[in-house]
Amino acid sequence: METMALEMKTITKEFPGVKALNQVTFKVKKGEVHALCGENGAGKSTLMKVLSGLYPAGTYEGEILVDGVVQRFGHIKDAEKAGIAIIYQELALVKNLTVGENLFLGNEPSRFGIMDWDYVYLETESWLRQVGLSGIKPDRITGTLGIGQQQLIEIAKALSKKAKILILDEPTAALTEKEVAILLAILKEFKNLGVTCIYISHKLNEVFEIADTITILRDGLTIASQPTSELTEDKVISLMVGRELKERFPRVEAQSGTTMLAVKDYTVWDPSQPGRKVIDNLSFELKQGEILGISGLVGAGRSELVLSLFGAYEGAKQGSVAIDGKPVNIRSTQQAIEHGMALVSEDRKKYGLVLDMDIKNNISLSSLHSISVRGVIQENQEIAVGQDYIQQLKIKANSLETVVGTLSGGNQQKVVIGKWLMTKPKILILDEPTRGIDVGAKFEIYNIMNQLLSQGVAIIMISSELPEVLGVSHRIMVISEGKMAGIFNYQSATQEVIMAAATGGIKHG
Ligand SMILES: Nc1ncnc2c1ncn2[C@@H]1O[C@H](COP(=O)(O)OP(=O)(O)OP(=O)(O)O)[C@@H](O)[C@H]1O
Ligand SMILES: [Mg+2]
Repeated sequence: METMALEMKTITKEFPGVKALNQVTFKVKKGEVHALCGENGAGKSTLMKVLSGLYPAGTYEGEILVDGVVQRFGHIKDAEKAGIAIIYQELALVKNLTVGENLFLGNEPSRFGIMDWDYVYLETESWLRQVGLSGIKPDRITGTLGIGQQQLIEIAKALSKKAKILILDEPTAALTEKEVAILLAILKEFKNLGVTCIYISHKLNEVFEIADTITILRDGLTIASQPTSELTEDKVISLMVGRELKERFPRVEAQSGTTMLAVKDYTVWDPSQPGRKVIDNLSFELKQGEILGISGLVGAGRSELVLSLFGAYEGAKQGSVAIDGKPVNIRSTQQAIEHGMALVSEDRKKYGLVLDMDIKNNISLSSLHSISVRGVIQENQEIAVGQDYIQQLKIKANSLETVVGTLSGGNQQKVVIGKWLMTKPKILILDEPTRGIDVGAKFEIYNIMNQLLSQGVAIIMISSELPEVLGVSHRIMVISEGKMAGIFNYQSATQEVIMAAATGGIKHG
């Protein structure tokens, strides 16, 4: 019999009112890459938290065997000692520590009780090199890096623990194609070294590229576990959602509307590096009833552009902006909302959600004026609206009073989207809206976007997932190092064209 690196047997884990895992069985062979798939809220992260000791023995039922030996982890440290390292879905780095400090956090090397910084920084450099970040200094403050880079640092941190079983819970959600390619290459190398890898991702193309075996969870149950060679993407999707999903991208034709947003000669400066432009003399228009996709590499300035337009970026700006034909000068998010803009940010913790508040309050947070009468919130209305969004977006939660921090990652993202839809925007800006969202729910989000188009809303969508940009946008603007690298009609755009422009190749299409 083949040795199993890991066996999880009849694992059941309950939270108040939720059975997150129901007798789950999960077996992973030594040295394989094993993908764990399932819809938002299926139980993937919970299963991995059980495995990594975050939920200690005694808080769940069932048995865990590592290399055939029963293990009862009382703490994350115990799991680490058994060679299990996990990278969580939500970034866990401390933003105001340096990269080196983060890498060694909880594991500080000391000589005679004094931190050995020379060692820390030397080691850090070598791990950063392994994840393709050799340009980053170990004493760089982590929070000043982009999300994509921070994600790679998480990975470097897990690698540095010399894991035998490496768990990656949506490691590539925030990465661009190029960074994803680096990561997948690293994982293939690891496989050659005999490291076992558990890989959670909603991006099925990655799963099919890297995984040897795929296990599918649905509603806390193990639905299937099969070699990848016996499966197809469509098959995995139907196992995940429990029905066939015929099309992935329901594009509707653009409505021909008036110009909703006109941006001219727009330049934005980096607040932390005087003189450095994050957006350089950019001009574009957004029409009513269209989706303008924005593509580019991480660090190209896409998020800075939309944050600045939304009055949420510290850096100085120059140029002109007109909404619905009228010049505007937006200096705060409040003003942006008043002008009919809404922004679904990529960093949901910073701009999106209050994690310890419930769903109802989070959804209504930015539109209190529309549900209050003379400043008093109408609770009934708040509930009615909240329930509407839960249904439309298929948010998986017990009730509107569920605290957002306890929702699965993808369901938190849906709450952010609901919150901004409720402001009834004229211009809706979505920054990586479907990051971490399962295929079924993505489809629902595209449908909602299409509905909004027919109501005359203009939509900007930043996305690092090329199939998504190509599948739903009407026009695609590519930004490279803060500059316009081309605007393409979807009919003439292909992955190759977009990538060439993003990396500084072509100018116009
Ligand atoms: N700490 C918690 N308290 C209460 N309920 C929880 C908690 N953590 C998870 N849940 C619930 O358990 C279920 C499974 O959540 P889990 O995070 O494992 O899903 P997931 O498969 O990782 O989904 P996603 O793809 O969205 O990340 C969900 O219904 C979630 O709301
Ligand atoms: Mg999860």
